[in-house]
Amino acid sequence: MPLVWSEAMSLEMPAMDEAHEDIVDQLALVETASDDNLLDAWNALIDETAEHFAEEDRWMQATGFAPDNCHSSQHAIVLKIMREGAEKCAKGDLAIVRQMAYELTVWLPHHVSAMDAGLALHLKSVGFNPETGQVDKPEALPTTALTSCRSEPCEDHAD
Ligand SMILES: [Fe+2]
Ligand SMILES: [Fe+2]
Repeated sequence: MPLVWSEAMSLEMPAMDEAHEDIVDQLALVETASDDNLLDAWNALIDETAEHFAEEDRWMQATGFAPDNCHSSQHAIVLKIMREGAEKCAKGDLAIVRQMAYELTVWLPHHVSAMDAGLALHLKSVGFNPETGQVDKPEALPTTALTSCRSEPCEDHAD
């Protein structure tokens, strides 16, 4: 069953929610793609995902996170694995991409409800406007660069 967007995935941050919904929609296209269309659908998902991860990484950079914080690191790892999948798919291994697509249907809601939820709370706490990049409460910015993602499972990380 393809993953379907639902309000339960909303983080009440339209710029993030819309990107997540687009990724969920593209992932569903991968899951339902014929063999002939699989690589194109997968590459489109990679493009969409790379753009969104880069956007979140920029928001983190603008609001006090270290470049190698665990959330940005997870983005980089996932994208690397997806690109390796594309290379194998191009050589005829379609099963690897179908397996990765399935794993993303599990990973994505988890990532959104943990790391992205932590980021959304952080962005709201500093009054960050994703449209303009403006921080309305600079006094709320961390004084040292954050290496954790500020999600609940990450609470034990030292900042
Ligand atoms: Fe993220
Ligand atoms: Fe995200």
